[in-house]
Amino acid sequence: EKDVLNQLPLNGRQVLITAGPTYEALDPVRFIGNHSSGKMGFEIANAAANLGAHVTLVTGPTHQKIVHNLVQIKPVVSAEEMYNEVHKHFKASDIAILSAAVADYKPKTVADKKIKKKDTTFSIELEKTKDILKSLGEIKAKQFLVGFALETNNELEHAKGKLKSKNLDLIVLNSLQDKGAGFGVSTNKVTFITSSNDIIEHKLKSKAEVATDLMQQILKQLHA
Ligand code: CTP
Ligand code: CA
Repeated sequence: EKDVLNQLPLNGRQVLITAGPTYEALDPVRFIGNHSSGKMGFEIANAAANLGAHVTLVTGPTHQKIVHNLVQIKPVVSAEEMYNEVHKHFKASDIAILSAAVADYKPKTVADKKIKKKDTTFSIELEKTKDILKSLGEIKAKQFLVGFALETNNELEHAKGKLKSKNLDLIVLNSLQDKGAGFGVSTNKVTFITSSNDIIEHKLKSKAEVATDLMQQILKQLHA
């Protein structure tokens, strides 16, 4: 069995993955979240482990399950917890793939008691969360850094902007225009954009197939 593992392309490599949504608390019983299922990130973890990698999967709240002796799960809840957990593992990583749907804003204050209803309108002041992916782009050394971009308009332009501003090696553009792609479904329509401006369009596929395609693309760039 050891010999078989030794032949796998990511044998001995460390892969860091983020998945799922984040929940930003408002009071002890409420939060701001999103509909990310975590499926894409878990499929990527599985695909990377199947190539022999040691995977650390930092995930927000999700019902996804994974049983693979090469995958270690680190559950987190908020964007801040995800940021801290990711930074614990980044330096030792060879590849980091950030597929989580991280909240861009969180409530500025968290009430320690349940907020009571009162007036007819109610507003919450929000402040920006830290951009985890961008923070990795700023400190990366040998690491191969992959981000996702969820866009509904000017897709390529926006995705290329994120690739550059976050100092990525590869970005996965997720098209929400297609129904059957994105949150809550098991299929995705993606385009890969590389740091050398190669654009590789894929048809609608299962998230498991997208994960395999992504790992193959990473191997290709690593060996180039
Ligand atoms: N991301 C992150 N930390 C954040 C926000 C986003 O790590 N606080 C990562 C996501 O995991 C994804 C990439 O950044 O890999 C792009 O996320 P996306 O929401 O598409 O872009 P943003 O940079 O947040 O910009 P916007 O939502 O305004 O399009
Ligand atoms: Ca965002």
